[in-house]
Amino acid sequence: MTEPKRYLVTAALPYANGPVHIGHLAGCYLPADIYVRYLKAQGKEVIFICGSDEHGVPITIKAKKEGITPQQVVDKYDGIMKNAFKDFGIDFSFYGRTSSKTHHDTAQEFFRNLYDKGIFKEEITNQYYDVEANQFLADRYITGTCPRCGNNNAYGDQCEKCGTTLSPTDLINPKSALSGATPVLKETKNWFLPMDTIQQSAPFQEYIKRFDAWKSNIKGQCSSWLTEGLQPRAMTRDLDWGVPVPVEGADGKVLYVWFDAPIGYISATKEFLASPSSIDHGPWTNWWQNEDTALIHFIGKDNIVFHAIIFPMMLMTHGKYILPTNVPANEFLNLEGDKISTSRNWAVWLHEYLIDFPNRQDELRYVLTSIAPETKDSEFTWKDYQTRINSELVSIFGNFVNRVMVLSDKFYEGKIPTINTPLSDEKLLTCRQVCFDGVAQSLHAMREDLDAVKLRDAQAEFINIARAGNKYLADTEPWKLIKTDAESVKQIMFDALQICAKLAIAAAPFLPYTSNKLKAMLGDENLNWNALFNETILLENHQLGKHEILYKQLEDEEIQKQLNRLEEIKKANDEQPIKTQTLAELKPDINYEDFEKLDLRVGKVLEAEKVPKADKLLKLTVDLGFEKRTILSGIAEYYKPEELVGKLVTVVANLAPRKIRGIESQGMLLMAGNDFGKLYNVSTEKDIELGSVVK
Ligand code: 2FM
Ligand code: ZN
Repeated sequence: MTEPKRYLVTAALPYANGPVHIGHLAGCYLPADIYVRYLKAQGKEVIFICGSDEHGVPITIKAKKEGITPQQVVDKYDGIMKNAFKDFGIDFSFYGRTSSKTHHDTAQEFFRNLYDKGIFKEEITNQYYDVEANQFLADRYITGTCPRCGNNNAYGDQCEKCGTTLSPTDLINPKSALSGATPVLKETKNWFLPMDTIQQSAPFQEYIKRFDAWKSNIKGQCSSWLTEGLQPRAMTRDLDWGVPVPVEGADGKVLYVWFDAPIGYISATKEFLASPSSIDHGPWTNWWQNEDTALIHFIGKDNIVFHAIIFPMMLMTHGKYILPTNVPANEFLNLEGDKISTSRNWAVWLHEYLIDFPNRQDELRYVLTSIAPETKDSEFTWKDYQTRINSELVSIFGNFVNRVMVLSDKFYEGKIPTINTPLSDEKLLTCRQVCFDGVAQSLHAMREDLDAVKLRDAQAEFINIARAGNKYLADTEPWKLIKTDAESVKQIMFDALQICAKLAIAAAPFLPYTSNKLKAMLGDENLNWNALFNETILLENHQLGKHEILYKQLEDEEIQKQLNRLEEIKKANDEQPIKTQTLAELKPDINYEDFEKLDLRVGKVLEAEKVPKADKLLKLTVDLGFEKRTILSGIAEYYKPEELVGKLVTVVANLAPRKIRGIESQGMLLMAGNDFGKLYNVSTEKDIELGSVVK
């Protein structure tokens, strides 16, 4: 492929319904920022676009929960999110809003264009309707069981567990997210994008050849959708929050949020290029309607189908637009063994992080890139965060720079030494060569990884440069050698200072705050990427700047504080009543005689163990006071065997014994279950006598 003339990089427009956490940052904003900084460093023409996604059901649900209007929700969070990104150095060219007039106009024009071309199929279909709330239930207004993986909390548009895109009518046991009621089907007219026919078209078949060069997670997801065959998808919704559908007979309907949101990239580009600061970048059409532009969408894995298939289909059927060159999608980041969740407050919030770790943005950027979920889900833990900072940023990079600065101050009053005699000592020459080879190799690998958007590997190579520098110092020991061979030390220190300059330049995409700090310490704030591969960057006699410490050691107490915070959140979550579960329908009445047939007894778990080859089963020995029973219970997913030992349980003591996996179960434990698949022991008071009748 020929080198693009310009790069249009986008990062998924986040829903303006909550603050930003580390999962957002690691998912797409940080990788996009690193890539953009890398492109810009090389002098490429780049625009980096993002903004708030202010429509869609997540916003209206939040508004309902907080008792405010959707507009108030987006007004509140748009600023919060924008500032959080800025605080972490995410350097968007423009951060737009999909509630802007330009966006509404652009999205409506786009829809109208496809409508006038006769692309949409107008259809009257049955859609779920909540009679109580008097509203159609699209997308996230409806939940139910995923037909593919059985997840009970799948949404009407997507199952977050298995990634399948869904229609509300695909859900098993659908429930309204507004009232919990079972919805009814009601007729309504909508406009569908005929994804089935577009899939067969020659331009689409040509387009999907691009997937071959994309990351395997995208390729995998896309090819499974394509193999299954795409279905027409409604591009309009019966809702009152969104961009109004700009055609006759569409009163009370808005554009599907996934139709309007990606157009947000276009409208934000328009707004950016209309501003006086961006005059040099030419008209917006140059960016969106010119094959010389590379269009790159950074996203999280739940957005793949929309960016790799649906939006390109929209762009293609419009006809004037370019299609994405690459869609680097990351998987998800988990936190301390659990899925990050806004509603459960299970997250590290960016604004809170900065309160506890002021001016330590680069530390978080570093760790999130080191563990970036580029190929599979990954996990953030505070212990790992501490280890990576202390043993990599502090001990390798920071330590190397610190040693070089201290020695330069001491030996040469903060100047780059002048070399009078080149090195001649064999051993020193070998050390120097090893170092130079290591640095060159890492620089090349880093560049290749950056080009391939393998940012995790690229950053590891960056650290390897500092490693090679450290080894050079450790092997040559200039602090000792100065006493016997001051001339050679000049060469060693000269080399080490050049490595510091390389580190200052190479750090720029990953650690922009550090890069600037180090450049100032080296007395040259203009050090730029072009010099990176030069052997000499800082010339003899150049005056260095003021020496500072790049990174501080992270103490155990600082980490413990974070762990304690999470522990408290976990406790609060466990104690919270299960508010949102929809309760099972009441069964028909029974007589007292029916109830009397049950013999419920208090028992105590004496032993508990897993049943081999049965993931869900625990084998328990339960003391009923008058006898001990073996009881098999399907609770292995919810209780560890050791958690149950000593617990009091309620037992159905006269259930006819039955054999499960070859073991006779002589009773049943009573457990309370909820919608989320959790089970709780229906426990009894501590001092009750074993074998007591429960009635
Ligand atoms: O998943 C999300 O948070 C969506 N708001 C992403 C939209 S990306 C783009 F299409 F705007
Ligand atoms: Zn699923």
